[in-house]
Amino acid sequence: MTMVEEHTTLFWQHLVQEDWEKRSRSFDSIPSSLCRLDAQAIFRLLTWCSEHMAASEVRSYLHRADRTVWQLCTKPEPDVLPMRADGSLANYHDRMRRAIPREDGYSIFVNEVIRYDPQAWRSVRDFVRGLVQHIGLPTRGFDSGVGLGQYDFTPFGLHVDPGRSAFVLPIVGHKHFRIWPADYVKQHPELVRSHGNYGPLVKDSLMLEAGPGGLLYWPSDAWHIAEGANDGEFTVMVAIGALLGTGRMLATVPCDVDNLQQSARNMPEGFAATMEGTHIMKRGATADQVWLAFLSGLGLRHPISMRQDALPDERLQAQPRSPILWRPLPDRQFAIAVNGHCTVETGDWIPESLDQINTGASFEVPELAQKLVEWLWACRALENARPA
Ligand SMILES: [Fe+2]
Repeated sequence: MTMVEEHTTLFWQHLVQEDWEKRSRSFDSIPSSLCRLDAQAIFRLLTWCSEHMAASEVRSYLHRADRTVWQLCTKPEPDVLPMRADGSLANYHDRMRRAIPREDGYSIFVNEVIRYDPQAWRSVRDFVRGLVQHIGLPTRGFDSGVGLGQYDFTPFGLHVDPGRSAFVLPIVGHKHFRIWPADYVKQHPELVRSHGNYGPLVKDSLMLEAGPGGLLYWPSDAWHIAEGANDGEFTVMVAIGALLGTGRMLATVPCDVDNLQQSARNMPEGFAATMEGTHIMKRGATADQVWLAFLSGLGLRHPISMRQDALPDERLQAQPRSPILWRPLPDRQFAIAVNGHCTVETGDWIPESLDQINTGASFEVPELAQKLVEWLWACRALENARPA
C-alpha cells in the first residue's frame, strides 16, 4: 500500500468508526486523493450541461432579498448554467450577478452531472471506494450532483433526505450547513421547512463549515439546511449521497473493493428482492447482470459514459482500477461487467481471457475476442499500452 492509499484508508476507517450514521461532522482537510474535482473540472461538467439541457437535470431558484424563494423552473434556459464563453466559474458568477437584481441571490442544482464526464465519474468512484471498503455497497447506490450559487438558505428550508447519508465537497467558497438531529426536530416540528429565525432553538443546532479541500458529512436522519455566509459568498459544491434506502430492506451489501471478482461470485442473499422496483433493477436484465454492473460501478447510479471512437490498431492494456468482472450463466454464457456496464458473451475462453487482461499486461486484440474487446474499449476499461 502506498502512503497516499494508507492515508486514505485511515481517513475512512476513522470516519466510519466515529461518525458514520451517528453524527454530523466537518473536516477542514481530507486526503487530496479523495477530491480530484476542482473548479475547472466543475466548469467543464456544467458547460456540457448547458450545451445539452435536454439531457441534464437542472433546478434553478431565484432568492428574493425578503427571503422568499422563486423557483424559476425545472427546465430553465441554458444560460443559467456556466457557458463556454464564460471561460471560468468566476466569470459565470459575474455574469449572473449582472443579470439578477443586486439584493437577490440564486441557487442551482444539477443532478448526476458525472454521467457524461468520465474523469468526474472516476473521481466520484474513487471517492466512494474507501467508504465501500468499510461499509459495503449502499443498496440504492450513490447519487452525485453539483450545487452552486449565492444564496442565504437552501430554497426549500430545513429538511431531511431519508435514507441518504450525505457528503459535501466544497469546490469554491465555504459551505455552511446547519444541522439538527432527528429526535430534536420531532420535538420541535416548527423547525420543518424553516429558514432563519429559529429563535432559541438555534443554540441546539450544529453548524458545519468547510472550504475547498475539506468535507462535510451528516447521517441519513439529520435535518439540514445550507446557509450562506454573511458576505454572500459564491459557492460551488459537489454533493454525494450514499443511498441506504428506508424500511426493512438491506441497507448495504458486502463488497470487497480489493477483490471485486471475489464479490462478483457471491451475489448477496436477498439482493434481487431488495433491488426489485428500483432504478437499479433495469427492465429485462437478470439479477446476475444487475449485481455485476452495480458492483463494477461501485454503486454509482449511472455507468461511465461510453466512448464512440474506434478501437485503435495497437497494443492495449487494462485501465488500472477498472477491473473487468464476470459471472458464469447457463449455456457457456458469461455476464461481463466493467465501470457500471454489463454485457453477455458466449465462450469457454472468456474467464481466462479476462483474467489475462486484468493482470494489466499489454495485449494484442485476439481475433476471437474482437467484439468483446471493442465493447471493453467503449466502456473505457482499456487504454493504449504504454511503451515497455
Ligand atoms: Fe438535502
